[in-house]
Amino acid sequence: MTERDEWWRRAVLYQVYPRSFADSNGDGVGDLPGLTGRLDYLAELGVDAIWLSPFYASPMVDFGYDITDHRTVDPVFGTLADFDALLAAAHARGLRVLVDFVPNHTSDQHPWFLDSRSSRDSPRRDWYVWADPAPHGGPPNNWLSTFPATGAAWTLDAATGQYYLHSYTAAQPDLNWHHLEVRVAMTSVLRFWLDRGVDGFRIDAVHRLIKDPALSDNPPSVAALRTALSPGAQLLRHIDQPGVHEVLRELHAVVAGYGPDRLLLGEVGVADPTRWAAYYGRGDELALPLNFAFWSQPWSAAGFRQAVATTERVLPPGAWPVYALGNHDLSRLASRYNHDGRGAARARLAAMLLLTLRGTALLYYGDEIGMTDVAVPPEQTVDPDGRDPVRTPMQWDSGPAAGFGPGQSWLPVPPAARTVNVVTEDHDPGSLLTLYRRLLSLRRDEPALSVGSYAPLPPSGDVLVYRREHQGRRILVALNFGDQPAALDVPDAAGGEILLSTDPHRAAGEQDEPVTLAATEGVLISATIEAGSAP
Ligand code: NOJ
Repeated sequence: MTERDEWWRRAVLYQVYPRSFADSNGDGVGDLPGLTGRLDYLAELGVDAIWLSPFYASPMVDFGYDITDHRTVDPVFGTLADFDALLAAAHARGLRVLVDFVPNHTSDQHPWFLDSRSSRDSPRRDWYVWADPAPHGGPPNNWLSTFPATGAAWTLDAATGQYYLHSYTAAQPDLNWHHLEVRVAMTSVLRFWLDRGVDGFRIDAVHRLIKDPALSDNPPSVAALRTALSPGAQLLRHIDQPGVHEVLRELHAVVAGYGPDRLLLGEVGVADPTRWAAYYGRGDELALPLNFAFWSQPWSAAGFRQAVATTERVLPPGAWPVYALGNHDLSRLASRYNHDGRGAARARLAAMLLLTLRGTALLYYGDEIGMTDVAVPPEQTVDPDGRDPVRTPMQWDSGPAAGFGPGQSWLPVPPAARTVNVVTEDHDPGSLLTLYRRLLSLRRDEPALSVGSYAPLPPSGDVLVYRREHQGRRILVALNFGDQPAALDVPDAAGGEILLSTDPHRAAGEQDEPVTLAATEGVLISATIEAGSAP
């Protein structure tokens, strides 16, 4: 396999949140056998790989992102044998499997941390980040947890008189990646899963792995805005440190040792585009660093056009973009843009955008059927950062618990599940699921849409237009972000064939007149290439 035709460049990845996908044993929580039983659905949908959020042994304070044993499946999800069976069944269907790797922290119940906190002299003391109180008492500096409800990123261990660092809840102490033994222990976790046959990893919170060793206070943020990227009124200078790139090269080398087709995808919460792009390294760090810019994009053609342009501009040579519009930490796509009740139409347009951009696409389970944020009553709220509404059970059918499992599900199923579900949408030609299937199948059949070049056309109102082209085949993508119809006045659209519209009522076929896009309509047109026209 050459550097430029790795499988993941054409791929569509699908994130499964194992607790919420399918419950095989009726305990209300999704599990690995449940997922195995639903693989045919994913293969038919047409995705290439699944990424599983953590399923390792965990007290579940952060629902699996707090690990006590990286090599064990938590009993709530099944057993290692269930994992092996899942992997084999996925591979048998041509689906690759990526697992979550959570290197920044462990659970405070992990034996390493129990050992570390047991005494200042513990051989594992420095596996975590410990510091003395500030001169006049209190936490060593002003660093904050990512979760606003947690507050300070430091918790005092009264017995040993020092504070430990936690970028998330106090039950998730940060590992010290300056320590060689930590690196050895954690890279052996990668090997454990690679040896079992996984196709790669999604690395959690990559940009946080190395902190400012001087433990300097963060400066105040002028904007003092709280966003997903900068909680609290301070600039996050303590993370995204240069040393993280050395760590990533080490992780890359371990994974690359298993062959060129094992993928490293990573969560890089760095807002500055150039700093974000540094996580590709020279092709020796992350193959696909996730780009947060897309997640906070207001609904406008100009906004998305700009986000793509920025990504394309900062990409190092040979690097490949990856785009996602949802995950288990974010408001659902169909809800995020629903301020005026048009969220469902926008979810259709967003699907066309995501699956026709130059880059690997990552889907979040349930977004393909239009699941929305679900109101979770206070007595059922469990997540420390309020993310339960976006993690509710997959809606398979209109039956009890939406077909998620035989028991009461761990999070509620909304009344909307009676119509927003796989079975109901399966045979409906106008459903979102049908649109996703068509887009996925077109993308598979048309290299122009997956690996073709990307050329944006000049902006026209609230319509985003770009060309994708590969070996003489050109496809024009026109997405009307506006709430009004818009004429598509693009020369190479005339005479082309409409391959697909987000509007199920528009017939596919030849198109002579200038196309008028309906409000929030997107179309794919196989465009003519004039002799001598610019590529
Ligand atoms: C990012 C994960 O996506 C999120 O769910 C988790 O809470 C934090 N990292 C901590 O692991």
